[in-house]
Amino acid sequence: MITFNPLLPLLLSSILLSLSTAADIQPGQSLSAANPNVRWTSPNNTFSFGFISESPNSNSNSVAITYNGIPLWKAGGDAGATDSTATITFLPDGNLRLVNGSSGNVVWQSNTAGRGVTTAALDDSGNFIIRNRSTTVWSTFENPTDTILPNQNFTVDNVLRSGLYSFRLINSGNLTLRWNDSIIYWTLGLNSSVNANLTSPTLGLQTIGILSLSDPILSSSVIMAYSSDYAEGPDIFRFTKLDNDGNLRIYSSSLGNTGNPNVRWAAVSDQCQVFGYCGNLGICSYNGSDPVCGCPSQNFDPIDPVDSRKGCRRNVEIEDCPGSSTMLELDNARFLTYPPELSSQVFFIGISACRLNCLVSGSCIASTSLSDGTGLCYLKVPSFVSGYQSPALPSTSFLKVCGPVTPNPGTASGRGTRWKLRPWVVVVAVVGTLFGLVAVELGLWFWCCRNSPKLGVLSAQYALLEYASGAPVQFSYKDLQRATKGFKEKLGAGGFGAVYRGVRRVVEVSFWCIQEQPSQRPMMGKVVQMLEGVAEVEKAPAPKAGTTLDGSVAGTSVNMSSSVSTFAPSVVPPSSSSSLQTPKGSSFASGMNVEKVSSSLHSDTM
Ligand SMILES: *[C@@H]1O[C@H](CO)[C@@H](O)[C@H](O)[C@H]1NC(C)=O
Ligand SMILES: *[C@@H]1O[C@H](CO)[C@@H](O)[C@H](O)[C@H]1NC(C)=O
Ligand SMILES: *[C@@H]1O[C@H](CO)[C@@H](O)[C@H](O)[C@H]1NC(C)=O
Ligand SMILES: *[C@@H]1O[C@H](CO)[C@@H](O)[C@H](O)[C@H]1NC(C)=O
Ligand SMILES: *[C@@H]1O[C@H](CO)[C@@H](O)[C@H](O)[C@H]1NC(C)=O
Ligand SMILES: *[C@@H]1O[C@H](CO)[C@@H](O)[C@H](O)[C@H]1NC(C)=O
Ligand SMILES: *[C@@H]1O[C@H](CO)[C@@H](O)[C@H](O)[C@H]1NC(C)=O
Ligand SMILES: *[C@@H]1O[C@H](CO)[C@@H](O)[C@H](O)[C@H]1NC(C)=O
Ligand SMILES: *[C@@H]1O[C@H](CO)[C@@H](O)[C@H](O)[C@H]1NC(C)=O
Repeated sequence: MITFNPLLPLLLSSILLSLSTAADIQPGQSLSAANPNVRWTSPNNTFSFGFISESPNSNSNSVAITYNGIPLWKAGGDAGATDSTATITFLPDGNLRLVNGSSGNVVWQSNTAGRGVTTAALDDSGNFIIRNRSTTVWSTFENPTDTILPNQNFTVDNVLRSGLYSFRLINSGNLTLRWNDSIIYWTLGLNSSVNANLTSPTLGLQTIGILSLSDPILSSSVIMAYSSDYAEGPDIFRFTKLDNDGNLRIYSSSLGNTGNPNVRWAAVSDQCQVFGYCGNLGICSYNGSDPVCGCPSQNFDPIDPVDSRKGCRRNVEIEDCPGSSTMLELDNARFLTYPPELSSQVFFIGISACRLNCLVSGSCIASTSLSDGTGLCYLKVPSFVSGYQSPALPSTSFLKVCGPVTPNPGTASGRGTRWKLRPWVVVVAVVGTLFGLVAVELGLWFWCCRNSPKLGVLSAQYALLEYASGAPVQFSYKDLQRATKGFKEKLGAGGFGAVYRGVRRVVEVSFWCIQEQPSQRPMMGKVVQMLEGVAEVEKAPAPKAGTTLDGSVAGTSVNMSSSVSTFAPSVVPPSSSSSLQTPKGSSFASGMNVEKVSSSLHSDTM
């Protein structure tokens, strides 16, 4: 038996209402967040324009163009959140304006007032166009937020944004992904067989799933990327989207299928390579196949316990533990670096020098030593540090923390404590470095004399060495004194006993190297001479006790290179190892020689 449902006319009218707006939108029409089912639709109902809820249980809404409920464009992008009584109105002056209901504040507007605008419409390709009688005044295709649809022309003037990430096409035709508009962490250039200087490149997504680039100078468009399902199926809708995880993806969705769209291509195949994915000081790793974010150790707390992607902070800041900072060692980990990295932060030095240089440098907070054969060490200054840890990574990273190191549960023991800045570490580092220098010096001299025709190669290596030695090891005197608890007295009192008697000269020289006044510090050549006994080692002025120096400006800078010792193996060829026992003749001359060639031959290596 059929009974009359009193709600039926109401339901019918609301369905009719939502369908009846497919025609052109006239000035004066509006939509409200309070009634999200009333939408402006494209002629064949594929796309619709109107309010959507940001998430099922939030009061936050936004205005979007959707396909099967998937947002493809958002009024105001990430900044377009509205309250639940907001309205969007196509004003009689031609402006499309979104205002919050409670405050009346303008959330977003198209800025098309006074331009002869007559109508607006959402077309069957998903483009919302505001027109004057003859031409397009404004369109969502020309003002994309995070998505590129088929038939949309994406030019160098356009940008996709999602959080801190952006996607651009640059004049050379390269596609780029950036973090905070600065760091380019992914770029894709034209097929190298295309040799042309483009004039006005345009990127487009073909309906069959090919991302291609066209330009007036090219006879045909160039393929940049294929969707893995390209050319499949007649009823597949595809779109390119910059997701809030910083990856650009091609998605496909079957017509009428309301499930989640499938990823068919991703620009960055390794999600952990997306700069800043885990926030500042966050470490990205994989649990099986999913990228997960964590903090480097228990010396760090998540900034937002609910959202691990927000990054981490130290539970004690470095400034709050002067003199007791230490390096947390992270195996198989790197801090992401993308060119152009400042040359003053990249060095050719070994792993322990990479750690120590950072520990003793006031401006360094983290370092990564690549063990991939390049011998590169990256020193990170306080800014945004993005970490990646994976058993496959051939690198070791260090992060400055306030000791003691408390590793994450289930990870290797707290090796970081080994590197605490203890008096003996400082002394061993200084002495070891100077010994290393002598070794290099002697080896070099010996090899020079035996293989003079090879001087070119050698000089090139020395240029590298000189470059590496540009890594200043900086301690403030305060730090050094605190760390060593007045090491001068201790040494004088024979605290290190017979071990140091033989290296007294070295220690004395090291005092010259830590003079407060840079002008009082000897040149490297002079250091070598003093070490070799060629020059007299005068008694260095005693460092003033209790001097208050603040930080790196007034701090004593020890311009020695702790890299030298780690460099010795590559500079001294195996055949000359015996040279270490034959310190006769004048090394003085070769020392001078090295100083000269190293500056003039720098370009040979680059
Ligand atoms: C509009 O309201 C939303 C939700 O309350 C709020 O997040 C947003 O900041 C407001 N926008 C403006 C411009 O007031
Ligand atoms: C439409 O806009 C274009 C470009 O802004 C302008 O040249 C044209 O005169 C306008 N037409 C009308 C009818 O206002
Ligand atoms: C709607 O129109 C577009 C463009 O003409 C077409 O590609 C699409 O298949 C149509 N969709 C439906 C459901 O008819
Ligand atoms: C995109 O560019 C092509 C070629 O220049 C043009 O024919 C087409 O109308 C443009 N599409 C849009 C939506 O502007
Ligand atoms: C992004 O860059 C701006 C300067 O361009 C800077 O002020 C801001 O701190 C950066 N954001 C982050 C998270 O580092
Ligand atoms: C363009 O991308 C290629 C990688 O595909 C890269 O080697 C090249 O340096 C990039 N060029 C520019 C100007 O960014
Ligand atoms: C570059 O283009 C050539 C010829 O058009 C093609 O054979 C080759 O596969 C393309 N290379 C890539 C990496 O797409
Ligand atoms: C592109 O421009 C550069 C610099 O102007 C020029 O050297 C090069 O020959 C040009 N290449 C082509 C294919 O026109
Ligand atoms: C990996 O992490 C994701 C997200 O945190 C979680 O959903 C998934 O269950 C985890 N997988 C494994 C194998 O632990």
